[in-house]
Amino acid sequence: MAKIKTSFFCQNCGVESPKWTGKCPSCGEWNTFVEEVVQKEEAQRGSWKANNKSTKKANQPKTLGEITFEEQSRLITGDIELDRVLGGGIVPGSLVLIGGEPGIGKSTLMLQIALMLSKTKVLYVSGEESETQIKMRSERMQHHSDSCYVLSETKTQQIFQQIELLKPELLVIDSIQTLHSQYVESAAGSVSQVRECTAELMKFAKETGTPVFLIGHITKDGTIAGPKILEHMVDTVLQFEGDRHLSYRILRTSKNRFGSTNELGIYEMHANGLRPVTNPSEILMTQREEQLNGVAIGAMLEGNRPLLIEIQSLVSPATYGTPQRSSTGHDAKRLNMLLAVLEKRGGMRLGQQDVFLNIAGGLRVDDPGLDLAVVASIISSYEDKAIDPKICFAGEIGLGGEVRAVNRIENRIAEAAKMGFKKIMLSRYAIKGLELSKYPIEVLAVSKLEEMYRHIFL
Ligand code: TYD
Ligand code: MG
Repeated sequence: MAKIKTSFFCQNCGVESPKWTGKCPSCGEWNTFVEEVVQKEEAQRGSWKANNKSTKKANQPKTLGEITFEEQSRLITGDIELDRVLGGGIVPGSLVLIGGEPGIGKSTLMLQIALMLSKTKVLYVSGEESETQIKMRSERMQHHSDSCYVLSETKTQQIFQQIELLKPELLVIDSIQTLHSQYVESAAGSVSQVRECTAELMKFAKETGTPVFLIGHITKDGTIAGPKILEHMVDTVLQFEGDRHLSYRILRTSKNRFGSTNELGIYEMHANGLRPVTNPSEILMTQREEQLNGVAIGAMLEGNRPLLIEIQSLVSPATYGTPQRSSTGHDAKRLNMLLAVLEKRGGMRLGQQDVFLNIAGGLRVDDPGLDLAVVASIISSYEDKAIDPKICFAGEIGLGGEVRAVNRIENRIAEAAKMGFKKIMLSRYAIKGLELSKYPIEVLAVSKLEEMYRHIFL
């Protein structure tokens, strides 16, 4: 019997090395090499057909003018959020990777899309669930389709055999980490398996023009499990995120060869599937009558989308030695910086106070344009004075306590006006050249934190 051949692979970039190394010579990461059993039959790797003898002649270079193409018609799924995130529907022959934490709803989203496309022959391959489990899941959903086929299988060659018989127009693989190719000996989910299976699926997608969706697991630190080159191989990378205990889910693109990466889709998880949210600002603000201390509304941007979001803080004297600083959905370092600015420039004695910050709706935000709203909500709680609920904020705060301009200010103003706010507070530097009279909202321009304080709290 032939000796089993093993090799070492970097888990980050996928580079192969005959022996173990501490630092990857290619990507510079430390301690990423793992030993894996490698391929049996080199000749057939990367091919999706059993006997794929290439008969084509080698490609010749052409000028762009010589290349003809028909306008590729995208497949519209009918899910407006997904269609927009993909840049206007599914591109034929594209390979889309969708990653997210366990239980976030990746399988639900893909099955729902498969069922929504009732005129398209879809093959949903699951290596994680049995056919009956998928049936049970589909029963919960509102959509029904007679052209959605389900296959519970993990061996790529078996899957391709079924594909050749069925000829689906869309393929969904529930999860790339469960697939196993016979040409590589290591276990499913290992770098070489993931890479090989993706390469086979990519070849299939490009040769037949069938779009393929891959569901991918993510690791502890939030990156898609498997080599980084997985993300390089596919055309589009989508991230499905949200707090598992709350019902909102966000679909983001981190790479898209066929559209912008600034688009974002928002869904709400229901008992019968995911429902697209068309007016997110409405759900991110609590509807209430009385005014509450420590609440401020910020006008932020998520990708290209302006959103109004409620920020809550609670400042209370620390009972135990070291005061606590805790933030949910917001960068803790940024919060510490804003508190330091308030101490130093605003003369507030927050050193002996616990500060808790919460972003409504379970959203994770990183738009610096929310700084002004965060600071306003902290002052409101500290001073026990509520902020007028008809005012919202958009501005970044610098270390000197200055209020800085943020990008796409007009979108933010327009969204605030649309949501019925009476006033919006911005940086003075943001409004140069803007025609403010066209918005039915009063603009309060400030250049320092101090001015904000005088406007709102005095
Ligand atoms: P799932 O799609 O299995 O997650 P993933 O594939 O990302 O691991 O989602 C599972 C969660 O979604 C589970 O906690 C139950 C919930 N869910 C609903 O709330 N409504 C539904 O209609 C379905 C199918 C699932
Ligand atoms: Mg799943």
